[in-house]
Amino acid sequence: MIILGIETSCDETAAAVIENGTKILSNVIASSAEMHAKSGGVIPEQAARQQIKSIIPVINEALRISRKPSKSIDAIAVTIGPGLVGSLLVGIETAKTLAYLWKKPIIPVNHLVAHIYANWLTGEPKFPILALVVSGGHTDLVLIRNHGKLQWLGGTRDDAAGEAFDKCARLLSLPYPGGPSISNEAKKYLTSNISRQPLNMFPRPLIDEENFDWSFSGLKTAVLREVSSQSMNNRVPRNQLSIPLFAAEVQEAIVDSLVEKTVKAIKKIKPKSFLLAGGVAANSRLREKFLDKIKSEKLSVIFHVPEPKYCTDNATYIAICAYFNFKKTDWPEISANSELTIMGQL
Ligand code: KG4
Ligand code: ZN
Repeated sequence: MIILGIETSCDETAAAVIENGTKILSNVIASSAEMHAKSGGVIPEQAARQQIKSIIPVINEALRISRKPSKSIDAIAVTIGPGLVGSLLVGIETAKTLAYLWKKPIIPVNHLVAHIYANWLTGEPKFPILALVVSGGHTDLVLIRNHGKLQWLGGTRDDAAGEAFDKCARLLSLPYPGGPSISNEAKKYLTSNISRQPLNMFPRPLIDEENFDWSFSGLKTAVLREVSSQSMNNRVPRNQLSIPLFAAEVQEAIVDSLVEKTVKAIKKIKPKSFLLAGGVAANSRLREKFLDKIKSEKLSVIFHVPEPKYCTDNATYIAICAYFNFKKTDWPEISANSELTIMGQL
């Protein structure tokens, strides 16, 4: 079974060819992140225009690298949401056109559920699965009893974890995307010899509450307040503030909140596997803290996390998700849904 996956939900244009579920024959990504770095964030109209230019070359390249001619593709999997509507339409309309030309079925894919399937590249996770999806626009904790059987346990009440990284980076004048920028600055602090002090400058809202919810919107206000008060009270010019320290504090606040609440869920639900997914799962401190906590608390759960390059947006997991949830859908039923939730259509 050979599936061509197509992903265009945000600023990436990606295509991948996957054989029998998890064997990657090709994985091509064209990103307009550099263009968006100049404007400090994604401008939807510009992202979609760039994707219209890139989509055919990216698919051609994915087919060429895979050495599979179009006639050996069995199905086309495409992200239908959530995401930027103009961007989603580029992928969906291209998938429909190719499906018509090649006479192949289309499998519509939920981008958030698909993120979780990047973990099948690390081996086959055992059900029941607890999965934490932390991306640029979403933070969701779900229990998965089998393919297609999801139960939502909790999520963010306001900003997503990735959004918190991105917005705080902006306040610290660090480049877009904020997650990798904060992580790199934080590493400078964490590896320096002054990093002995506890990292607790910023609050961890809801951390002691008996639910599986998060709130990250207060973090940016706290960062703004601390930056202003330090530069005023200590008379440190803003450009001489310790950005690595602030970055480490921001990262620690987000990571601690995610780890504490999720570990509570692991203890309560006792899943066989715990899967971390989404762009923020590429964060090395988050990966390290989950590993440490699972070990130190002797939790009997198998921890999966994809290689960092498969955490951020790409088309491999779109095709993998489609393979495990194959459901041929009629064309008129396939349309972009920018507001799709993790509990929406697979
Ligand atoms: O899943 P993703 O690539 O796209 C969405 O579906 O949103 O996630 C993008 C998010 C951005 O907010 C980005 O800043 C964050 O993932 N991110 C990271 C890291 N790499 C990407 N956050 C923290 N640390 C990282 N290393
Ligand atoms: Zn994503």
